[in-house]
Amino acid sequence: MNPEIINVSINKEKNQLSYPIFVGNNLLLQSGNLLKKYINNKKIIIIYDNYFDQKNSLNKYFEQFIQSIKIETFSINLIGISGGDKTKSMSQLTNIIEKVLSFGIDRDTIISAFGGGVVGDIAGFAASILLRGINFIQIPTTLLSQVDSSVGGKTGINGKLGKNLIGAFHQPLAVIADTIILKSLPDRELKAGFSEVIKYGLIKNKEFFIWLEENYTKILNHDDLKLKKTIMKSCSIKSEIIQDDEKENGKRALLNLGHTFAHAIETFGNYDGKIIHGEAVAIGICMAFGFSYKLGFCINSDLERVINIFQKSKLPTSLKDIPELSISTSEMMEKFKYDKKTRQGKLTFILNNKIGDSFIKQDVDLNILKNFITEEI
Ligand SMILES: NC(=O)c1ccc[n+]([C@@H]2O[C@H](COP(=O)([O-])OP(=O)(O)OC[C@H]3O[C@@H](n4cnc5c(N)ncnc54)[C@H](O)[C@@H]3O)[C@@H](O)[C@H]2O)c1
Repeated sequence: MNPEIINVSINKEKNQLSYPIFVGNNLLLQSGNLLKKYINNKKIIIIYDNYFDQKNSLNKYFEQFIQSIKIETFSINLIGISGGDKTKSMSQLTNIIEKVLSFGIDRDTIISAFGGGVVGDIAGFAASILLRGINFIQIPTTLLSQVDSSVGGKTGINGKLGKNLIGAFHQPLAVIADTIILKSLPDRELKAGFSEVIKYGLIKNKEFFIWLEENYTKILNHDDLKLKKTIMKSCSIKSEIIQDDEKENGKRALLNLGHTFAHAIETFGNYDGKIIHGEAVAIGICMAFGFSYKLGFCINSDLERVINIFQKSKLPTSLKDIPELSISTSEMMEKFKYDKKTRQGKLTFILNNKIGDSFIKQDVDLNILKNFITEEI
């Protein structure tokens, strides 16, 4: 089957960088062919989610990927790591880097990340600092990573004080999003990825949001055509937003809708699985709409409609849905200080005028925010 291709183009000061996202079903079988021009007999280090070490009927695609890549190169080394946000740590990064170096790499070596957002983020970050930067390829295996984290070049790990505080912008050479690999993804993870999909409609495409309202059941039931459209549309919207703002000096920040709340919530969970990234994003987006409503930017019916799609998708919509997290207003306010959009102590949030129309709100009133958080807890 021929893949659909979305080209991500990024305008840099002096030139334009561009790379393909291949989207389709059963593409991993032809990975070698799709990636031929990048691999071209170079050494490949595959950093993969060790979930794929398990042998079962749904788990043959990783092996297919390796066999297909083998046709294009004389040298492949493998490093298995665990999924889950705990892996995005300095100690894991050090382990990965030392292992990669022990394989004897040069500046032509390519790292390939095969896994969800966690593997992609840490492997991409390793690629960005090894020998001052080597190339990498993304093979995302979760819905979240196919629609979001594998595209756009944000790589990194979590710091003790907050999420994704250590990292680099490093764009991949190519991305392959194969819907077949999602067959083994647990429902909880599929739904978590769906949060980031809803985000795109809410930021700037009401038509897509309406399509999601109409099609969420099929998407969450793995309907392949709907999944493909979901991935294509999400990646196109993301690529449109980042093309003139690779390093988030302006409108790229819109992609953080809900994330200032979400990242703070995740740190309360200690990355131990009580709450996973996409679930925190669902709550974060509902809070961003709640806060937009409180400040008089959006109407109540939009807020209700947003909560409704998350609830119908069986995602959490409020901090009260995760009672195991013990959160206080003051601790939450403290965490906001480490948000990467904060400048000179002034907080910035992404808010909405309506569904499909997000904007950047700088210098948010701290007292109103405090009251809002207290009401939410
Ligand atoms: N770089 C970016 O732009 C960006 C954007 C959004 C999110 N993120 C990051 O992405 C991470 C979340 O990514 P994620 O949700 O993919 O998490 P993840 O990588 O931890 O994967 C989720 C779970 O699914 C398992 N898994 C992966 N693929 C599977 C498959 N095909 N079948 C069965 N199980 C599979 C993993 O082992 C893990 O347990 C967070 O750290 C978040 O900060 C980064």
